[in-house]
Amino acid sequence: MVAIDGPSGTGKSSTSKAVAAKLGLSYLDTGAQYRAITWWMLTHGVDVDDAAAVAEAAGRPVIESGTDPSAPTITADGEDASGPIRTPEVTAAVSAVSAVPEVRARITALQRHIAETAEGGIVVEGRDIGTTVLPGADLKVFLTASPEARAARRGGELKAQTGQADLAATRQALLKRDQADSNRKTSPLAKADDAVEVDTTELTLEQVIECVVTLIEEKQRVA
Ligand code: DC
Repeated sequence: MVAIDGPSGTGKSSTSKAVAAKLGLSYLDTGAQYRAITWWMLTHGVDVDDAAAVAEAAGRPVIESGTDPSAPTITADGEDASGPIRTPEVTAAVSAVSAVPEVRARITALQRHIAETAEGGIVVEGRDIGTTVLPGADLKVFLTASPEARAARRGGELKAQTGQADLAATRQALLKRDQADSNRKTSPLAKADDAVEVDTTELTLEQVIECVVTLIEEKQRVA
């Protein structure tokens, strides 16, 4: 099992997917699961700013993830959530929903089940995988990058998706979400003590992928 954590805009998803595809491993995007439960709540009349209401609803939707790195899927109650989970409304609400302990307990159990039953190994990406979800992972990687580099990457993604992007607003939203994710009480975004930190600010995506593949191969050699 490989855990890849870090804030948004560090190339986490692209790297994790590419590494899994290259090495024939499964892939799990845990952020997509938190986004899917958030989307379900927004579309089922749950007030996402009311932690008690979110806690009460946490067990209701069935969230399912497909773990093929070349075609990952995410559904809520059987409905394809892959498009709606990337909307600004979901992005703005996901930190509050994912801070609720009942939501984390539910999603963490699901993540552990998927990781334990994946055949031939899995790359799991998120914020608390190395610290909380899979503390016994064979390799833990923590990706970082400067706020400027992260905002530029997120801005580029948004531009590709929507045709427009305001870099200053993107940077502000990203830093706000990082702060909320890092300061919440239950399993915040954090580097595990035994994680390898990779600063991707000056690296291309290909270089980050190569770096993680090398780390995995080195681990396999000593295993
Ligand atoms: O990686 P992402 O931007 O899709 O993640 C969306 C949100 O989900 C992020 O702001 C915090 C939350 N999240 C989390 O709390 N724990 C994880 N393991 C993954 C994501």
